[in-house]
Parts: sequence; structure tokens; C-alpha cells
Amino acid sequence: MYKILEKREIAMRNTWYKIYAPHVAKKVQPGQFVIVRAFQNGERIPLTPVMWDREEGWIVLIVFTRGKTTMRMALELSEGDSLLNVAGPLGNPAPMEKFGKVLAIGAYTGIVEVYPIAKAWQEIGNDVTTLHVTFEPMVILQDYLENAVSRHIVEPVKLDPRFDFKVNMKYVTKRLVEKVRELLESENWDLVFMVGPPGDQKAVFEVVREFGIPMRVDLHPIMVDGTGMCGACRVRVGGEVKFACVDGPEFDAYQVDWDELIHRVGFYSKMERIALERYLE
Ligand code: FES
Repeated sequence: MYKILEKREIAMRNTWYKIYAPHVAKKVQPGQFVIVRAFQNGERIPLTPVMWDREEGWIVLIVFTRGKTTMRMALELSEGDSLLNVAGPLGNPAPMEKFGKVLAIGAYTGIVEVYPIAKAWQEIGNDVTTLHVTFEPMVILQDYLENAVSRHIVEPVKLDPRFDFKVNMKYVTKRLVEKVRELLESENWDLVFMVGPPGDQKAVFEVVREFGIPMRVDLHPIMVDGTGMCGACRVRVGGEVKFACVDGPEFDAYQVDWDELIHRVGFYSKMERIALERYLE
């Protein structure tokens, strides 16, 4: 079960896994996610099926190598191996409505979640433009998006080797905000949708708010069970506590408590870094 049918590195730190998971492939809708447990006693990580085949029973996951588990997956798993468990589909499907002219933004691997949603929105009659802002060697899904939506814009940012990754990420945020402002100033939009790190989502939201355009976001706080039981994915939306796994992952950007979300997401980053360093020793 959950056999890895195909595994390949498609861009820097981005690995494509085609997984046999017929129960997920049969039901998954754009906007939903799965919780993967790759190893015995390993952590559970939320990932988004980017494409699937209901008859053949496979899904594709694109995994960004970031912490210990994703590094183990990249280094230790091969085609023919199996994942321990793939639970899902979880979360609510993205709303399939006629919004009109939509700008759908993916920062870094956020584009993985944007792809199935943007494709479906275009198919039901929306005029969708997608924007992918990331480091140059991490551009993914370009051909797929060019074939799926009205217009796909890629803004690759060069990695400056003089600075560490975190400093370089500030250039991505800067380019993202500049490009969004340029697009909002030059064209009329009915909806902005975005997936990416919460700091970047907040930065984009602050620009969108100036223009008064509706904005929806997929939120990805820390998740454990993905079923509303553990409370790890708690977010404050419209002054109420919500669980991103069962109430989301999509929310109205105008209602999200961004500062609380950013604080909670960074809560375990030191422990995650230590776990990765120990694994690599
Ligand atoms: Fe546990 Fe959402 S992941 S409540």
C-alpha cells in the first residue's frame, strides 16, 4: 500500500512523488490535503495532492525538503518503497464558484496547492492568472500552469550566495509585493487567492487591502492529526478560534489574525532545526 511509483527531483529541494493511494485518488478535490507518515515513529506531515488519477489510483505529492522528515524522505526513500500511511483526503474542498477575474498567487511551494485550485476555477469559467514567486532554481509546474489557466507569470529571484537563505527570502517577499502591486494597479480583479508562508501572505494581504479586493488564503499552521482533535492547527479567524484542518484550510484573509498565526508557526522552528542537524550528523 502507498507504494512510491515514481520519485524524481524536479527542482532544487523539490521532489515529485507519485504514490499509489486509491482511496485518496478516488475522492480528493482541489483544496484538500493528506497527512503522510513516511516512517515508523516518524512525524505526520500535511501535504497537498497536486494531481491524481481516479481510475489508476495514484496521487502526486511535491515535497519541499525543509526539515528532518522531508530530508529523510529525499535521502532514504526510493521508487518501489512504500509510505507507511497516507490519511485523507482531509480539509474542505476549495469553493467552486464563478468569481470572475482571479489572481492566484503561490510563493515558493505554495504553487503546488494553487495549481489544482486554479485549474479547476479556470475550467468552470473564471479568468485565472497565476503568479509564482520563488528562487530561480525552485521554479516548478510552469508547463502545467501555462496549459491550465489564462496566464501564468513566473517571477524567479536569484539566490545570492553571499547571504544565508533567510536573508535571500526577504528578496522574494520584496519581489512578491512589488509584482502584486503592479498587477493590482494595472488591471481590475474580482478575487486574490494566495498560498505561501504566512509572513508573505500577510505582506500581500496588506497590499490587497489597499485596493479593497476580496482575498482568500489557504492556511498551513502546524498540523498533527488533521482531524480537529489535537488543536495544533488552531488559528484565529474573525475573532473566533478555528482549526485549519477541519474549518479550512481556506479562509477570508481579512478575518485572519496574522500576527498570532506567524507567532505560532515559528514556535517549533528551533526544535525542527536541531532535529535536522542531529539527523545529518
Ligand atoms: Fe489537529 Fe487540526 S491538526 S486539530
